[in-house]
Amino acid sequence: MRITFKLIISLIVVVVFVAVVSAWLNVRHEKVKLYEEVLSRSALLAESFKESVRNNLAAKNYASVQRLADKFQSQKQLEGVAVYDSGGTRIVSSSALTPVLAVHKEAIDALLKEGRDNPVTYAMAEKKMFLYPLFVALDGGDTARIIIFTNVSYIDYNLYKIWKRTLIRLLVQMVLISLVTLLTIRWNLVDPVIQMAEWMKNLRMGNAHGHVPPIKGDIFAPIAREATTLATNLQAARRAAQNEARLRQEGESLWTPERLKELIKMKMDGRPLFVVSNREPYMNIKEGKDIKTIIPAGGLVTALDPILKAAGGTWVAHGSGEADFEVTDDNNRIKVPPEEPAYTLRRVPLSKEEEDGYYYGFSNEGIWPLCHIAHIRPIFRKEDWKYYYEVNKKFAKTVLEEIADVKEPCVLIQDYHFTLLPGMIKAVRPDARVAVFWHIPWPNPETFGICPWQRELVMGLLGADLIGFQTQFYCNNFLDTVDRTLESRIDWEHFSVQKEGHTTIIKPFPISVDFQRPDRDAKALGEKPELKTVLKEMGLKAEFLGVGVDRIDYTKGMLERVKAVDRFLEKYPEYVKRFTFVQLGAPSRTHIPQYHRFLAELHAEVDRVNWKFKAKDWKAIAFLEKHYDHKEITKFYKIADVCMVTSLHDGMNLVAKEFVAASDDHRGVLILSRFAGASRELKDALIVNPYDIEQMADAIYYSLTMPKAEVEERMTRMRQDLHENNIYKWAANLTEELMKLRMDDFKLTSV
Ligand code: G6P
Repeated sequence: MRITFKLIISLIVVVVFVAVVSAWLNVRHEKVKLYEEVLSRSALLAESFKESVRNNLAAKNYASVQRLADKFQSQKQLEGVAVYDSGGTRIVSSSALTPVLAVHKEAIDALLKEGRDNPVTYAMAEKKMFLYPLFVALDGGDTARIIIFTNVSYIDYNLYKIWKRTLIRLLVQMVLISLVTLLTIRWNLVDPVIQMAEWMKNLRMGNAHGHVPPIKGDIFAPIAREATTLATNLQAARRAAQNEARLRQEGESLWTPERLKELIKMKMDGRPLFVVSNREPYMNIKEGKDIKTIIPAGGLVTALDPILKAAGGTWVAHGSGEADFEVTDDNNRIKVPPEEPAYTLRRVPLSKEEEDGYYYGFSNEGIWPLCHIAHIRPIFRKEDWKYYYEVNKKFAKTVLEEIADVKEPCVLIQDYHFTLLPGMIKAVRPDARVAVFWHIPWPNPETFGICPWQRELVMGLLGADLIGFQTQFYCNNFLDTVDRTLESRIDWEHFSVQKEGHTTIIKPFPISVDFQRPDRDAKALGEKPELKTVLKEMGLKAEFLGVGVDRIDYTKGMLERVKAVDRFLEKYPEYVKRFTFVQLGAPSRTHIPQYHRFLAELHAEVDRVNWKFKAKDWKAIAFLEKHYDHKEITKFYKIADVCMVTSLHDGMNLVAKEFVAASDDHRGVLILSRFAGASRELKDALIVNPYDIEQMADAIYYSLTMPKAEVEERMTRMRQDLHENNIYKWAANLTEELMKLRMDDFKLTSV
């Protein structure tokens, strides 16, 4: 506003100056002109009066001069005329003038005395009088003086009028100038600047639309040009910053194969990673004369293969495929995966007796049912224990061979088949960093206590530097078990056990999947699978599809699932001939009688339900008992309306997570057992108690009638969680924790 005021004042000063100067010049000109007029008129009068004065004075005819003088007094501003002799005595004067002259006698006398012959102005009787004197030479050498009196007050009045007019004009001009300046500045400067400031504020706050500022006109053209460039650059910079922040955030929270590879390289100083498990990631079997590679079913392989693919290293496992050793080198090693070798698989051959005792016997008839509360009685045989011990030793020997040349190697041992292995490795290589990951549940101490070799198992495990479980609950159970079984120092605050000077850290590491893999599988499938087509291939028709994918195992709650489908169709008959449940079942541990019995029971149950609802071109349950690869499984995940994971007890269950990872179109509902570790993370699944058949039947109904928006919301939330908590993060956490441990003279203590 101050600038507007300054501008107005400056303009007014200039205008006033110009007006005053021009008025002054005008007035001066007018004044000169008017006085010249008076002067010439007075001169003319005086001259015309002069002759008759001379003649009449010579003739002493004063009356005639008086008459003449009176004649002069009524003309325009002419006040009159007076005639003085050489002594300054008034001889004659116009009658109207005479009293005034008497009043101003002294002034007139002084004027005459000075002998001036040029005109003067003099204030007389409130009038400004112009006195024009003229000498008249009389006969006889005498002189007389004529003075013409003209009232020139009108000149001042005229000049005053000029000034007055000028001032009024000036005032009007000042008001107009102020108004025009104010409006011009407002419209052409203030408003655009306010708009521009608003636009810049929005730009700063990221709310501006477009890059062009809302100002027009020549004055602003350079600013508009610069502001446009500035806005473009700012918006680009902001986009880049947002992008970078997103990437940084994603980079910080999102684990990828590349990032894991870098971490392992950095943390392990270039040393290779060693993984040990019973189940191998790639198995070679015979198909006629050909040798085929298959990927065994099970969460362990699903989880660990992507890690080794990313980080490289060596995986030591039982070579259980009939053609396994036909494809390995002399050291029982083979590079895998066959299509794109990324790491070494070291296969350990086992005799039939060893496999029977260690794998089928102690591991899967003993520890497996012991740890899974599935109401199957564990069987512990002395012979099995002997093989279990021997095979652990055999694996220890193999691992020690593999790590022989590596200083402070990092060994990740998997699962319940190798409880003795950590102690065996550390006894020979105390410099090795050894971690065990326990994929299955760990029961309470009472349950675990029925194992005759519980002490040896716990002792063997405590040889490791780090033991990972799927949940905190299992960590607690493990520490309780240690407390009941051994003399040791348990630190409940830091979750560690000290035994014979060695410290073992106990921590939960919920395992996960490679979130992107189902995506790659889906792409490899080509066209998006269609429910109608897939079912048609199976000779079936249905509108809705439920799917279950499991290793055929009594812990998976498959019988309960079949019963739930039966009850669902019974309770909601409108879905008969419209809903089909496809169960993909991979044969597993088939030499164990309990698994035989379970499989027979499952077949019988499926038959019963199918017979009950028998219809043309439709089946309530399609039980597809064979080994399926990931691509085929992904196809079913993608067309299913609902996936059922109803384990009676499960460490984690990666089928649940794979189903979520495969649902990239955010459709499909997950029914998940509350007894699976995954239920602690996938809270948007329909969580069920697999022993409650009625509840499961209702869950199927609810999943098929759930509003689309809710389906999407639930799936989106589960996918977001899984996207971040993927298998690479699991491996990174485990590796980081293991590498964080301080090695003091090969006696580890927690940091
Ligand atoms: C579970 C176990 C794994 C095992 C998998 C498959 O996930 O935790 O250790 O590999 O089942 O069982 P299998 O006996 O075929 O290896």
